[in-house]
Amino acid sequence: MFLSPEGRAAGEAVLGWMREAGMRAALDPMGNAVGRYEGVRTGLPCLMLGSHLDTVRDAGRYDGMLGVISAIECIDVLHKKKEKLPFAIEVIGFGDEEGVRFGTTLLGSRAIAGTLDPEVLQAKDSGGTSIAQALLQFGLNPQHLSRVRRKKSDVLAYAELHIEQGPVLEAEGLPVGVVTAINGFSRLRVTLRGEAGHAGTVPMSLRRDALAAAAECILMVERAAKELPDLVATVGRIEAKPGAINVIPGEVQFTVDLRAPEDSAREDAVAEVKREIARTAAQRKLEARIESLQDFGSSACAPWLMRQLERAVEARGVRVRRLPSGAGHDGMAIKAIADIAMLFVRCKGGVSHNPAESITEGDAATGAAVLFDFIHDFKPLSA
Ligand code: GLV
Ligand code: MN
Ligand code: MN
Repeated sequence: MFLSPEGRAAGEAVLGWMREAGMRAALDPMGNAVGRYEGVRTGLPCLMLGSHLDTVRDAGRYDGMLGVISAIECIDVLHKKKEKLPFAIEVIGFGDEEGVRFGTTLLGSRAIAGTLDPEVLQAKDSGGTSIAQALLQFGLNPQHLSRVRRKKSDVLAYAELHIEQGPVLEAEGLPVGVVTAINGFSRLRVTLRGEAGHAGTVPMSLRRDALAAAAECILMVERAAKELPDLVATVGRIEAKPGAINVIPGEVQFTVDLRAPEDSAREDAVAEVKREIARTAAQRKLEARIESLQDFGSSACAPWLMRQLERAVEARGVRVRRLPSGAGHDGMAIKAIADIAMLFVRCKGGVSHNPAESITEGDAATGAAVLFDFIHDFKPLSA
């Protein structure tokens, strides 16, 4: 989790590996582990590589981490050969991509893209600690947020290697694939307020049970998603108060995560879900508060970068498979300052956000080799 003791240990391990690979490395004020490998001259614009170091609860080993260590491994090869390229390379282990702790995602990459509103630093975790307080406790200075930001002219492109987290590459017998676009997402936090009461004494007709209402809303969200092709929706977190076996739940909070390749389909679904929640609450005489936590549009990968990745895939004798990403990635934020590309690595059964996440050593090697060739032969758009 972002800014946790485990997060610190992960960051320090990664900074150590970056230094061993010949990079200058440090945590930035937003807790991203940043390593820089200079080009033929110091201070050249960079090819940015990376992925995230945080995980979901009960996560697998590869979501995020694989992209960071593969990139470091590539730099290590260059360093051992004492090879410098006509551009710098930066590898970033983003501190927060998943958004588990503070309910708002892509904190690290948004800070780097300069799109993180400083107001967001007031968001609190479930223990009431704000991001700004957590940064201070971690020994970082939230006042220095603006120092994290990169200029467009400093970043030639962004490329990320990541496990597919889906079943397509496995079904087609391919070790890697080239991402076309990252699906957009919207996230809501819904609070339903009814009235707590005695589970034994209040007749059913007089109850204002917030949890029963939430159950109705959750099934409605599932139905709405099933009705539209390519739309997926998840209620991943729910909390009922006061939370006792013999008390009618007076207040419930739950999250909704909605995703689709088409922005308009997602926006329509969000509007419908909000309308239906309000209707259900009114019918049951509850108050509903619906907060939009985040909205990200679909993010296309840049064709000029996809072509360079595809050449690297072909060079390894692998058929090129293009595919969209259903999962979110840091590129969604970095897109504000640079064109983006992603290479997917096959994972077992498409299982992810689960400790059973699994890849083969051979596929990890193929992914890293493709990434290496891509870096080595990289030509900026202006060249
Ligand atoms: C990030 O992993 C997301 O897609 O939720
Ligand atoms: Mn993830
Ligand atoms: Mn990820």
